[in-house]
Amino acid sequence: MTRKRVLSGIQPTHDSFHLGNYLGALKQWVDLQEEHDAFYCVVDLHALTIETEPALLRKRILASAAQLLALGVDPDKCTLFLQSHVPAHNQLGWIMECLAGFGEASRMTQFKDKSQKTGTDRTVVGLFTYPMLQAADILLYQADLVPVGEDQRQHIELTRDLAGRFNSRYGQAFQLPDAYILKSGAKINDLQEPTSKMSKSANSMQGVIELMDTPEINVKKIKSAMTDTGREVVFDEKEKPGISNLLTIHSALSGKKISDIEKEYEGKGYGDFKAGVAEVVVEVLRPIRQRALELLEDETYLLKILTGGALKARAVAEKTMANAYQNLGLVQ
Ligand code: AMP
Ligand code: TRP
Repeated sequence: MTRKRVLSGIQPTHDSFHLGNYLGALKQWVDLQEEHDAFYCVVDLHALTIETEPALLRKRILASAAQLLALGVDPDKCTLFLQSHVPAHNQLGWIMECLAGFGEASRMTQFKDKSQKTGTDRTVVGLFTYPMLQAADILLYQADLVPVGEDQRQHIELTRDLAGRFNSRYGQAFQLPDAYILKSGAKINDLQEPTSKMSKSANSMQGVIELMDTPEINVKKIKSAMTDTGREVVFDEKEKPGISNLLTIHSALSGKKISDIEKEYEGKGYGDFKAGVAEVVVEVLRPIRQRALELLEDETYLLKILTGGALKARAVAEKTMANAYQNLGLVQ
């Protein structure tokens, strides 16, 4: 039986990934590489939708690759590469832009949110065409599954629509992908504002747990997490969003059921519970940070992995691309 194909990508827009990225997406990357044919890319071209200093972008691309390897993405089990190393992404991106309707692209909530924040005058066209490049990322590899957080569901739906449209208009060229979204961890919220998602673009980093922060900083952030009225540790997203978020984090990292964690803290206060959550978080993140720092010391090794990944990725992508061009009637 052939293994199912998985593809996912993450933007190198910050120095560190955060706990939402890890639990919402990256942990699944690691799990899925075991039994699937997985392709994972650092989507450095997508990151150009945000203006960054060249030296900083370069640093963040390498830091992203290092963190992925450190958290368990294994180049012997999957293909890890940089999007810009495979030119077919741009080639298929254009084809996708020619298939997508203006109205359909205008309905993407991520575009609406981000462009609203930036203001129309300063929003680049690349932010608008971003989902079509994402569709290309996925379709080039004939992916069956795309592990992402809940906020990416709409982009995967669009990818399916575009693939279906191409196939019916020009002949079969693309596999229709499914989003792979876990219930637990699909949405980790900000520790200070537990009703909004943990995000790198939050107003303050106080509620964001970063993989590359020191254990001390992360313990402090968890201990000062916003909690709710009352003192029982029970899961209730409406009445106790803060405690529920911490329970979700604990459960996703420790593997314990939420009901068991509730029992463990019965009769104890929020303070004890937060200390327990901090311990679980630090235990998981400490070795990841350590390993990522070591990898960043050895750029030659990192580049070797990425070059090897690009070779494998290019072979698959170029095949899909040639077939798509052929179907379109472009002279080969
Ligand atoms: P981003 O940081 O928006 O580039 O997202 C990278 C990946 O992490 C995507 O698959 C997101 O769906 C996922 N993700 C981002 N923030 C969260 C969050 N707070 N909870 C769960 N998943 C998230
Ligand atoms: N848009 C995704 C995000 O914001 C990143 C991304 C780009 C992606 N290309 C992808 C995710 C392909 C999955 C598959 O997180």
